[in-house]
Amino acid sequence: MNALYSYYDDYEDEADESQTETRFVLCYCEGKCPFEDDKGLCRISSPGGKCFAAISYEIEETGEEIVTKTYGCIDDEQMAQLQCKGALVPHLNKKNIQCCDDGDFCNRNPYQFEPTITSENKLPIIIITSCCVLTILTFLLFLFALYLKFRKRNLVDVINKIEECNSKKSQSHGGSSGESGSNYLTMVQRTISKQIDMEKVIGKGRYGEVRLGKWRGEKVAVKIFHSTQEKSWMRETEVYKTVLMRHENILGFVAADIKGSGSWTQLLLVTDYHSNGSLFDYLQKNTVGLDRLLFMSLGIAKGVNHLHTEIFGVPGKACIAHRDLTSKNILVKQDMECCIADFGLAVKFDSTTNKFDVPLTDRIGTKRYMAPEILSKMANLNDIDAYKMADIYALGLVLWEMSRRCNFMGEKSLPYEIPFNDLVSSDPSYEEMQHIVCTMKIRPEIPEIWQKNEKMKMMTKIIQEMWHDNPTVRLTALRVKKTMHKLITKTEESLNISNCSEIE
Ligand SMILES: Nc1ncnc2c1ncn2[C@@H]1O[C@H](COP(=O)(O)OP(=O)(O)O)[C@@H](O)[C@H]1O
Ligand SMILES: [Mg+2]
Repeated sequence: MNALYSYYDDYEDEADESQTETRFVLCYCEGKCPFEDDKGLCRISSPGGKCFAAISYEIEETGEEIVTKTYGCIDDEQMAQLQCKGALVPHLNKKNIQCCDDGDFCNRNPYQFEPTITSENKLPIIIITSCCVLTILTFLLFLFALYLKFRKRNLVDVINKIEECNSKKSQSHGGSSGESGSNYLTMVQRTISKQIDMEKVIGKGRYGEVRLGKWRGEKVAVKIFHSTQEKSWMRETEVYKTVLMRHENILGFVAADIKGSGSWTQLLLVTDYHSNGSLFDYLQKNTVGLDRLLFMSLGIAKGVNHLHTEIFGVPGKACIAHRDLTSKNILVKQDMECCIADFGLAVKFDSTTNKFDVPLTDRIGTKRYMAPEILSKMANLNDIDAYKMADIYALGLVLWEMSRRCNFMGEKSLPYEIPFNDLVSSDPSYEEMQHIVCTMKIRPEIPEIWQKNEKMKMMTKIIQEMWHDNPTVRLTALRVKKTMHKLITKTEESLNISNCSEIE
């Protein structure tokens, strides 16, 4: 080491002498010396040139780290600019270079002017960071998949529970109902979603879409709920699986199922398919004769009556109120019978246990069809009868929609109109509906022409008694059913009655 210093000192003396004549900068050189010297000096003759000290680390195949230090001159200005900034660029092997031109042998003391590694090979860091991020992401995905699996299992448990309750109920009543919740349906629903070929969309409600499906060559309707609407799906499944629910005027339930795995889940409700669609759709395109009007109305009344009726005995049936009766939630079958659908909001009441079963969903009914006491929040919502009376009000509006499309005695039907079409906006608010229905006490207009025909006159009376402001005055579903039935069977001459309640 001392020998090295004395070697510099000789050169330094020489440099001091030469500086008196021409301004050269002298640099210490080692490994990059002119004339193939090992060590020595070199000079920068052009302005912009630099002395440099460089260091590089290389890993041998044996794994040994070799450090190489070089010192010398970069005479050319452009090269100096390029090379002296080379340390900023990432290298495969660790490298650094430092340059100076602020005096002779400015790079000379390898201990004071030793380049350190600043520019490391970032590749391993990038790889390690990426691996960490990927591992964390995979872990999070795994947790998410576990969560979905857990949720799905919960839903399956709910179905099982519903079935268990229903079968216990049937057994305790001493027999099988042969109705919804039967063993056949239970078996079917486990696998049905895998066996259904989904086809076109046939309806879109507020809570999902309905598709036509093919199952074992038969057409079925598949209502697909958004995964956020799981409570609606649960409620509807639960209602369809109520013992003794099956009825010709209630949409036929086939199965409830959960489809999908991992990141997506679909909640499915499979029912009979009716190509005529909803009553709303049907009335847009079709008119009905008087007999058909009465026949369809009778079917609806029978369906609602079945829902509303509590059956005591073996087995029994809870009383159910629909809470969202509209022309969009009633379907028209091939034979023109109507059936009630969409039970996402229904409430059940069992008088033997005095148990009120209200859905957990935050869904509310269709405001346009809400009874005045519901709009004004005056109804006693702990009383099942209050819900039933509200159903009857909504049904009155539906019968009015149907009656407008009726052509009787050569009279042309009126164009289809949704109730309160000209009085409120397309998606009316509570306030709008309250104003019209509660404050102004307005009901849809009854065309004068309806008074010209005895049956239509009776229909009008039924409708008006159904949408009466006082819920307790409204007809029951049973009364509507009976009245419709008599209207169908009686001849016009015998309809010399002043009040529809006389028809019993
Ligand atoms: N079984 C079915 N057959 C034919 N069309 C149907 C059937 N079920 C539903 N639809 C159509 O889909 C629409 C929405 O169905 P719905 O059960 O009322 O769903 P949401 O709860 O979203 O309102 C209905 O208005 C009707 O047009
Ligand atoms: Mg609906």
